[in-house]
Amino acid sequence: MSKPIYVTQPYLPPLQEFIPYLQQIWDNKILTNGGPFHQQLEDALCEYLSVNHISLFSNGTLALITALQALRVTGEVITTPYSFVATAHSLLWHSNKPVFVDIEPETFNMDPSKIEAAITQQTTAILPVHCYGNPCDVAAIQKIADNYNLRIIYDACHAFGVADQGGSVLRHGDLSCISFHATKVFNTFEGGAIICPDLKTKKRIDQLKNFGIVDEVTVVAPGINGKMSEINAAFGLLHLQHMDTVMDLRAKVDAGYREGLKAIKGIRCLPQTASRTRNYSYFPVSVEPDYPLKRDELFQKLKDHGINGRRYFYPLISDFSMYRGLPSAAPSKLPVASAAAQKVLCLPMYPTLDLVSQQRVIDLVAGD
Ligand SMILES: Cc1ncc(COP(=O)(O)O)c(C=O)c1O
Repeated sequence: MSKPIYVTQPYLPPLQEFIPYLQQIWDNKILTNGGPFHQQLEDALCEYLSVNHISLFSNGTLALITALQALRVTGEVITTPYSFVATAHSLLWHSNKPVFVDIEPETFNMDPSKIEAAITQQTTAILPVHCYGNPCDVAAIQKIADNYNLRIIYDACHAFGVADQGGSVLRHGDLSCISFHATKVFNTFEGGAIICPDLKTKKRIDQLKNFGIVDEVTVVAPGINGKMSEINAAFGLLHLQHMDTVMDLRAKVDAGYREGLKAIKGIRCLPQTASRTRNYSYFPVSVEPDYPLKRDELFQKLKDHGINGRRYFYPLISDFSMYRGLPSAAPSKLPVASAAAQKVLCLPMYPTLDLVSQQRVIDLVAGD
């Protein structure tokens, strides 16, 4: 049997290119707490992503929790059930009540037309996700937030490098959080960041990710240890130099799937969004009723041939035990998300997926 293919594989630049960075860390003995690589990576990412301020974190989950803390979000927060579980977990960690609203069938993003009905006296914020890197309907969400005086924190963990007509998608809302986990388009092994519009907010976030410490004798809030270490930041700097290659390779894999799958009845690729710049972070397909197998049967068939797709996002967050009891978690209130969770399969997608392996995947989906 051929070697297994996984849904993703982290991008690693040549090891010898990383050695000089390690040498510098060994020479200056600064391992964390906002060292030189941390500073350089913040600057480099602001430039690469065309954003004003960024605060690096040890992962995206702590970035989300800290974003809620930075904006002093209380009470209920409207969010999506169709995401990685960390989206809603961040709300529980910050003692907020998640209120799930359904998604749109085309983009799998939160459906803005369903938000108003979910707003109560306790609602203070909206936490949407740019699912698979496809931008949410940011204008519609902002309008609702303005009308009801709500904050918006985007879970932009899938949206590294995505831009719409006006620029980086990360500039929308009050804050955006991003993940640099090993499986993401840009990775620092583990890592994440908050993107914020002004220096005052960045300073507060920088304090919160360092236990709330302001100076030797002053602690202003019960902050957390969310700092990114120098080794992760150094790797990020190196990875950033390879991003053009990574994006080109991903675009080719995406195009290869669209071409190879287009004639297969019952397999629907997610439409290409109107984004100015996409990041090709995932390749979800919807297995429709006219396909000869059900989604789970296709998932198993691929697995039997050593190809490990992922049923992102199944189960829905709202189906996990810690959320199931919420009134907004009832499947009857989330019909689009419930259907998507039964139909979508993410196919292997990573920059170094070679043509032969990709063809194996396509042939198996085609029924060969
Ligand atoms: C949508 C979403 N939110 C949050 C996270 C959490 O990020 P991390 O794994 O860096 O904590 C992830 C990824 O893992 C994610 O995909």
